[in-house]
Amino acid sequence: MPVIVEAQNLQKNYNGFPAVAGIDFKIQKGQCFGILGPNGAGKTTVVVMIYCFHPVSGGKLTVFGKDVNNDPRAIKKRLGVVPQENNLDLELSVRENLLIYAGYYGIKKDVAEKRAKELLYFFGLSDKAGHEVDKISGGMKRRLTIARGLIHTPDLLILDEPTTGLDPQSRRLIWEHLRQLKKKGLTLILTTHYLEEATQLCDDLIIMDKGIILEEGKPADLIKKQVGAKIVEIDIEPTHKNSLIASVQNMISGYQLAGNTLYLFIPEDETAVMKILNTSNYADAYQIRPANLEDVFLKLTGRGLSYEEVSGYESSSFAKTS
Ligand SMILES: Nc1ncnc2c1ncn2[C@@H]1O[C@H](COP(=O)(O)OP(=O)(O)O)[C@@H](O)[C@H]1O
Ligand SMILES: [Mg+2]
Repeated sequence: MPVIVEAQNLQKNYNGFPAVAGIDFKIQKGQCFGILGPNGAGKTTVVVMIYCFHPVSGGKLTVFGKDVNNDPRAIKKRLGVVPQENNLDLELSVRENLLIYAGYYGIKKDVAEKRAKELLYFFGLSDKAGHEVDKISGGMKRRLTIARGLIHTPDLLILDEPTTGLDPQSRRLIWEHLRQLKKKGLTLILTTHYLEEATQLCDDLIIMDKGIILEEGKPADLIKKQVGAKIVEIDIEPTHKNSLIASVQNMISGYQLAGNTLYLFIPEDETAVMKILNTSNYADAYQIRPANLEDVFLKLTGRGLSYEEVSGYESSSFAKTS
């Protein structure tokens, strides 16, 4: 698969502050590539360099095989951007927002009109075409911003937190549209702090925090590698945890304690741990669920993605038992 974006020791400083502190990654054609991380991780900084809005401070960044320092115009022509903040023209109609943008790319009027019509149809906005943007819902504005990013039929679409602030239903609708775009072969870069979004859409992702990459890979592989198949969550008085951990130590690959919840990482099968728990004081105080990216993130950083430091956090990994 051809490489669409490649970063080598990529850096960005804002007045000496390292917002991106030397990262490496590759994005292949047709992928949905996720950049995951909490607020301030450096996600937006990475994508603004990819779409040639801010210059890089160090390292190398190529897009479509061209260096962003040398060929920004050629790169920009071939990519579409959905920025973190909506920047639609609120006083214009839905259709006009698309047509004006088409004008920036020098697309002929009849071609632009046809394309706008197709995009409005694809995003379920046909009946809103003549409405003033100010009057449509937040989810529709977001879909329109994505449509606008596609007006010039780019080869790469960059979406910076496309569903932040939307209700779950609007969010899912956008996921569905993104899946369809991916099926058509479009390469997507998606920043998000929603783990479910990353899990649902991304083929490959990097997890960033404080300007660096903590982990990278396919969501399922990362979960398997970092935490295993299942998580047992136990309500526990933190001072009691050691004896419980000792009783299951050879059946788990690690644990985390966050507040009064102990998370046990189960590499594959939970039966042995359940047997122990069912004959303990915790028989009614635990639940089992599949491991997910939130567990990976918590393990790597001691924080939830959308939360501050978890109080009483502690983590440990044991040698694999299986
Ligand atoms: N234009 C800027 N000037 C100074 N600092 C900035 C600027 N943009 C971002 N930063 C800082 O860089 C860090 C990364 O920000 P950002 O890339 O926006 O993170 P994210 O998108 O993951 O929330 C943050 O600490 C932020 O305050
Ligand atoms: Mg951001």
